[in-house]
Amino acid sequence: MKLFDVYPINNIEIVKGQGSLVWDDKGQEYLDLYGGHAVISIGHTHPHYVERLTQQLGKLGFYSNSIKIPLQEELADKLGKISGREDYQLFLCNSGAEANENALKLASFANGRKKIVAFTKAFHGRTSLAVSATDNPKIIAPVNQTENVVFLPHNDVDALKTLFAEQGNEICAVIIEGIQGVGGIQVASDEFLQSIRSLCTQYGAYFIADSVQCGYGRSGKFYASDFAGVDADIYTMAKGMGNGFPIGGISISPALKPWHGMLGTTFGGNHLACAAALAVLEVMEQEHLMDNAAKIGGYLIQELQKLNHIKEVRGKGLMIGIDLPEELNQVKKNLLFNHHIFTGEAKPNVIRLLPALNLTREHADRFLEALSKELKA
Ligand SMILES: Cc1ncc(COP(=O)(O)O)c(C=O)c1O
Repeated sequence: MKLFDVYPINNIEIVKGQGSLVWDDKGQEYLDLYGGHAVISIGHTHPHYVERLTQQLGKLGFYSNSIKIPLQEELADKLGKISGREDYQLFLCNSGAEANENALKLASFANGRKKIVAFTKAFHGRTSLAVSATDNPKIIAPVNQTENVVFLPHNDVDALKTLFAEQGNEICAVIIEGIQGVGGIQVASDEFLQSIRSLCTQYGAYFIADSVQCGYGRSGKFYASDFAGVDADIYTMAKGMGNGFPIGGISISPALKPWHGMLGTTFGGNHLACAAALAVLEVMEQEHLMDNAAKIGGYLIQELQKLNHIKEVRGKGLMIGIDLPEELNQVKKNLLFNHHIFTGEAKPNVIRLLPALNLTREHADRFLEALSKELKA
């Protein structure tokens, strides 16, 4: 059987990782500023993570949601504390798309409405409603086309106010990334997030903060929307949550009430996934990784702003976009093949940095040096 060929891939096989470094099958070392697409939050093969997962696997890998799983409660407790939302409720699933799918569904169950507001360049995943709320017609299959999703220009407070004034009583939810990832590291302004909050409250709609990529401490705060000083009704998360073990979740305001059978999943919240997520939060806490993300991210942004030829540097903490002019569209490939540094990208010419949250100053400097060489070349 052949693989279904949907990914354009680099001809590199990574076989080993430690911290922010990975090695290929020929022994070549790479600096990983991509984190396997914002997934590696506490570094590759962190000893505490390996130990906790190995121990759990030796005891029990999986049992279904029909029994008590105290690890889920432990995780909810820790996540509530570290995210500053102890009164919220946790539903666990397996991926970012699933988290958004469940969040949108939950909002619709709760207020009985259908209209979803999303924004230009948004990416919310590839399942049915999540992809309908994604601003990329190429990945929306005919069966996922719906008039229930309205797209508005990102960061346009007036457009938002106008839509609410006209149709506010029909709006089920507004879904927004605190910092757009796939969209090229576009930061939602504080004013925009605050307007979403107040309009949702005024009209009985729900504010869903898609924190799948910009959450889990990456921005220097737990959720990127925390910079605006507002609470969302539902936070969705995945990526860094399990440091590579598939797990997603939604953190739900106490105003939303569950009933049995409302949401459900076979694999979500299984023992191994919870052990992985707990290990991540324990390391984040013990090693002060949110502070490190703010510090090293701040340093990187400051130094990047000094370099020539960059159109714009955007982002917060360790979620950084380097917007390059068209003539420098080879820089990302050169960083990989000439300097052995993995970075992410966003169309058309944005380099995305999504490293582990314990990235060191030394590794940040190694990247800055390589990039300045490429920009001078
Ligand atoms: C903001 C955002 N939401 C949702 C998703 C979908 O997550 P997953 O690929 O785990 O389904 C992504 C993935 O890149 C994302 O960046």
